[in-house]
Amino acid sequence: MQTGRENWQTRWGFIMATVGSAVGLGNIWRFPTVVGRTGGALFVLIYLIVVLLVGVTAMIAEFTLGRHTRQSPLSAFRTLKPNSSWWAAGALSVAAVVLILSFYSVIAGWSVAYVIRYWTGALSGLDAAGLRAAYEGLTAEPRWTLVLHFLFMSLTALVVSRGITGGIERWTRVLMPSVVVLLLFLLFRVLQLPGSGEGLRWLIAPDFALLNFATVLEATGQVFFSFSLGMGIMITYGSYLFGDDNIPQSAIFIAGADVAIALLAGLTVIPAVFAMGIEPEMGPGLIFVAVPAVFNTLPGGSFFGGAFFLMISFAALTTTLSLLEVGVSVIMDEWGWTRQRATYGAASIIFLLGVPSALSEGAVPLMVLGMTFLDAVDFFASNILLPLGGILTAIFVGWIWERRSVMNELERAGHRFLLAPLWFASLKYVVPLAIIMAIAGRFILG
Ligand code: PHE
Repeated sequence: MQTGRENWQTRWGFIMATVGSAVGLGNIWRFPTVVGRTGGALFVLIYLIVVLLVGVTAMIAEFTLGRHTRQSPLSAFRTLKPNSSWWAAGALSVAAVVLILSFYSVIAGWSVAYVIRYWTGALSGLDAAGLRAAYEGLTAEPRWTLVLHFLFMSLTALVVSRGITGGIERWTRVLMPSVVVLLLFLLFRVLQLPGSGEGLRWLIAPDFALLNFATVLEATGQVFFSFSLGMGIMITYGSYLFGDDNIPQSAIFIAGADVAIALLAGLTVIPAVFAMGIEPEMGPGLIFVAVPAVFNTLPGGSFFGGAFFLMISFAALTTTLSLLEVGVSVIMDEWGWTRQRATYGAASIIFLLGVPSALSEGAVPLMVLGMTFLDAVDFFASNILLPLGGILTAIFVGWIWERRSVMNELERAGHRFLLAPLWFASLKYVVPLAIIMAIAGRFILG
């Protein structure tokens, strides 16, 4: 076991970094989209149940594994079960983070471009059609998409190269609260729009006639994506935890914050879309076209539009930090590289992997299985690698790792974990089953 591994400086810093990882495009764009597609308030209700039964359970498992081994995902599994193939579970997560980061940085780059475009007045006054043309113009321009992707990866690498306390913790402590302040500010503005009440009602009053199995599956997928689970991030962040943290309590807080921000984003985006009479449609068009169209109807619209994309850029940055940190910690643990070298090495490879994604959204027709390259990478990483990583981690902590050792770790500083029997049952049965159904459902129900 390594000595000299870094630790979070404060508990609040750890919480901000993990909430920062969880809160991202998944909350601001994907959550409202899924809610829009599956029927509003009913989905929200089911989502909350899945959060408690599956999300919090799996998050506790990842933190425990990380803190106990104080290793990156690849070596965490291997330390506890040497001479087995369990290391492959770690390897899978690493593959998933590398792929997700490669396209996430592309979309994050667009949002930075939108801050600049708004605040220089380039988008002011455009209607939905004009905004759609502007969006397609940006994504079809190879030089810009590549430069923006490069910039976003560089910024991520700059912060990660400074380490846990001096880089990730310091930045997320400022960025995460800024996201919340910006979001509340925008929410307040949107709720003053005529017609926004209808969207609000739609989010709050469940229509049970819409209840079906696919909604439950969709909720499971969304929880894993939104909580950054199944890809070793929470193992890595847990490995920098001090021994006396109350893990279940932290996990509940982090989950609560992530859900709250998703709901706030839903409350901002959906009423805005309703107020404009636009169907809550799929895809990034929702945040790059529909929401800007709403802001453009307001006095000072360019200012609000810029603030919206600044919030998205901040939320995305706190997520890309955690994705890159997984790769960096693996390289440092496995090969003993310095943090600097590991960071710039990993960031360069991921930048290159993202190039086809950056080009595929309009610049060059790069299609895989009928999807754009970016969508295909997203599909493979989010719908296959990520749930697989989640299931293997749950099985490992629930079935393979000795229960006594898990309990010792969880209750290390004398925090009694009274719900432990329930937690174990959920980890052993509910989580794997939910994930298997979610994967199967995706392929059977489409
Ligand atoms: N949780 C992030 C979000 O909501 C996305 C993400 C998924 C990050 C998987 C890491 C791993 O945007």
